[in-house]
This record gives sequence, structure tokens and C-alpha cells, in this order.
Amino acid sequence: MYKILKKEVLNDVVELMEVHAPYVARKCEPGQFIILRVGEDGERIPLTIADFDRDKETITIIYQVVGYSTRELAKLNEGDELTDFVGPLGIPTKFHEVKHVIGVAGGVGSAPLYPQLRELANRGVEVDVIIGGREAQYVLLADEFRKFCKNVYIATDDGSLGTKGFVTTVLSDLIEKGENIDEVIAIGPVPMMKAVVNVTKPKNIKTSVSLNPIMIDGTGMCGCCRVSVDGKIKFACVDGPDFDGLQVDFDELMMRQRMFKEEEHTVNENANR
Ligand code: FES
Repeated sequence: MYKILKKEVLNDVVELMEVHAPYVARKCEPGQFIILRVGEDGERIPLTIADFDRDKETITIIYQVVGYSTRELAKLNEGDELTDFVGPLGIPTKFHEVKHVIGVAGGVGSAPLYPQLRELANRGVEVDVIIGGREAQYVLLADEFRKFCKNVYIATDDGSLGTKGFVTTVLSDLIEKGENIDEVIAIGPVPMMKAVVNVTKPKNIKTSVSLNPIMIDGTGMCGCCRVSVDGKIKFACVDGPDFDGLQVDFDELMMRQRMFKEEEHTVNENANR
């Protein structure tokens, strides 16, 4: 069993947990993920590792409460235990020889982006980040990014914090101003990653994305997490979750993600009754 050592509510839909998971904490690297279960009959929930502490033997996860399983997870508190916490899964991020990287995060995308950018900063790379959210409360981890990023840009849809607009508004401005960018790492909702690629592709700027499609086993067996990259079928759980964003078929990915929207809606409706 995996004890929850800390729980924090980050906004009205996002929570953070620090979980005691010695094996995962010893082995994990930026870019990898875990699959957890709440209860013996619980559904598997894949979550990218937001942080790890090898001395404390803990893993930090940040999740959005969107459906039945994440609601069950959100019912747990400090001192409670998770039934399963499997990992580290997926291929660690491959860091390239670059001088200047801009990270782009939307919503809970800040969580997987954080350890990647911190590692790059530790390697001496100049790192900036653009964090986006619908409104101020959905802009996550800005203070944590400030510890190692040269610039932290913020964009909100309603203008309640930072630039009024999207992350791509800020990114396009920086490119137009002649900012020298070797690589963009974009993590967030699929439409956001697609929009980022629409900005970087014409400029031929290397762009990495982290994909979080529907997953079941997390070991390459079920085929649920299938994505098309450069015209080839890949499984996000064993071939990713990081991919070359310029080669990802985002339209197909969005179509597959909509598959269970109706069920999620029904569960949320029932929970709100
Ligand atoms: Fe089953 Fe990736 S989750 S193949």
C-alpha cells in the first residue's frame, strides 16, 4: 500500500498528492508516469510524475478531478493509502543538446513539464516557460518555475493574470521579436499542443510534446493508447509519452479522446445530483 503523505487543493478542480512510493522514487526520471488504483475494483489512472524526492522516497502527482475515478482519488486524504502505484512507466525524456528552451504548459500540463525544465536548467540550459489557464486560479506552479526559469510568462483567457490570450499568443510574440529558440516543449490539452505546433512548425522549431491518451495496462498490451506519429502507429505508454510534436497526428488523437466523453458527462451529472 502507498501512503498519502501530503494533499493540497491547488484550485477548484486540481489537487496535488505526495505519495510514499520508495521503488518508483528511486528509479523514476523526468517524463515518466505511474498508474494508480483506488481500491481493488478501481479503474487504472495514468498520471505523469510531477516531482520526486529520492531521499524522502516520495512521488508528487497533480491531477484534475474530471470523472468517477479521479473523484474517488479526491476523496482520499493524508494518511490514507492507494491500492496500487505502478511505475515508473514510459521512456524518460531524451534531453537534446540545446542552449535555449521554452516550455509551454496548459492547465495540469505544468506538472509533467516541471521536472523536465528543472533538469534542463540543472544542465545549464537557458529555460523560459509560458503557463496558460482559463483564469488566474488555473495557472499552476508559477512560483516553482520561477526558481530556475529566466522568464515566466503567463497567459489567461480572461486576462485575470498575465497576458490576456492564449499561450500561443505569447509564443508567437517571442518568435516575432526574434527570440532564439532551439526547442519548445509543450504539455497540456491536445488542442493547445496542436496550436503550439501550428506556430512552431512553419518556423521549423524543434517541438516536443507529452501525450496522455486513454490508457489501460500501460505496458503496450491493450493498444488503447495508440497514436500516429510520422504516419506510424506508436503506443504512448511504451514508445512515449514524449514525442516529436511536429510529427503527431493531433486530429486523430482528439477524436480518440472524445470516445468516452458521454460516459464522463453521465458520471459527473450523477455525482452532482
Ligand atoms: Fe495499453 Fe498503452 S495503455 S498499450
